[in-house]
Amino acid sequence: MTPEVLFTNATVATMAAGSSAYGLIRNGSVSVAGGVIVDVGPSSSAPSGASQVVDLGGRLLTPGLVDCHTHLVFGGDRVAEFEDRLAGATYEEIARRGGGIASTVEATRAADADTLLASARRRLRWLAEAGATTVEVKTGYGLDLATELRMLDVTDRLAGAAIADVRATLLAAHIVPSEYREDRDSYVDLICDEIIPAAVGRADSVDVFCETIAFSAAETRRIFAAARSRGLAVKVHADQLSPGEGCHVAAEFGALSADHLEHADETAVAALAASGMVAVLLPGASSFLDERVRPPVDLLRRHGVPMAVATDLNPGTAPLASPTGAMHLACTRFGLTPEEALVGMTRVGAQALGLADRGVIAPGKRADLAAWDVEGPGDLAYWLGAPLCTGTWLGGVPVGRERDGGS
Ligand code: NIG
Ligand code: FE
Repeated sequence: MTPEVLFTNATVATMAAGSSAYGLIRNGSVSVAGGVIVDVGPSSSAPSGASQVVDLGGRLLTPGLVDCHTHLVFGGDRVAEFEDRLAGATYEEIARRGGGIASTVEATRAADADTLLASARRRLRWLAEAGATTVEVKTGYGLDLATELRMLDVTDRLAGAAIADVRATLLAAHIVPSEYREDRDSYVDLICDEIIPAAVGRADSVDVFCETIAFSAAETRRIFAAARSRGLAVKVHADQLSPGEGCHVAAEFGALSADHLEHADETAVAALAASGMVAVLLPGASSFLDERVRPPVDLLRRHGVPMAVATDLNPGTAPLASPTGAMHLACTRFGLTPEEALVGMTRVGAQALGLADRGVIAPGKRADLAAWDVEGPGDLAYWLGAPLCTGTWLGGVPVGRERDGGS
């Protein structure tokens, strides 16, 4: 097939499964037709006839990064709470006195869709300009039918901006909103009977924060059962602040991923392994909360659980707008190798979203690509805060950058 676009003169990190050393091809090229990769190999044997040639001048080309866990739609900010925590208050104490997630819920309910969209688009652009081509976006700051649906509408409009491919997750089970504090069951009823049915066709999956300050294992089961009965995928925030049953419940329901996992023990890891789930590591939250307990990376490796890495971009625990920054923190705080971190932000990040069509540079995959002004792939997790990404492509089409006047 005659390619439409030829990316040439690149150091290509294919990240193909089973390859070692990033699946690196020096002086490589990638051919694209119909938005899909049709050929990958040395530049010397690239198919000819492409109508468009992108000469990367020796730069690194990777799969576009997949940030599989963010909460980037929200109103207000939590800067004052950051200062409270620096003065000694803990995240849980702030949550228990009605701050934390609840304060963002208040600000999000008060914000109209255009206001939410403007701030979310700015944050999505930060991620896209730092190399992300797929970004998962959760609701969870509405916690009533109208505001959760408004968050899904905003997420849909973000997707329409074509800065990155956006996947929507319903997290109505983030915390129990204050108006239901004395009657938690009614809030779980609302999620199962009204919010989940209304989210069908708008959200790709349903997430639950399974934690002492949020939802119990029994409540998580009810919500997952409702989601699965409507054909929605499920995933869980598990073992973030304290050990719990989140991984086991998620495994029972064939969840895509279990995320955070700082306090996961070997039985939890074994449950993930047995059900083929992905462990999503979120070192930005661990760093920002100065969590001393680390996810059991050695156990995850030993049990063969694939590890994704994501930013968790959110106002309360991870004001982190850099996918490669998350990779850096995954190495320095959690002990991942730079290669594991890039696998986690590409191939396994895609797996965490149930997307088999991306995350590697191989024939048949979407031509979602990122170019980097670095010597080699090890640089990506090494630098913290450097603007290394020089461009991204979605289906072989360049994503406009702010300075180019892109939307
Ligand atoms: O992933 N764990 C729960 N949810 C977010 C925090 C959200 C917030 O504090 O606003 C997280 O860390
Ligand atoms: Fe999160």
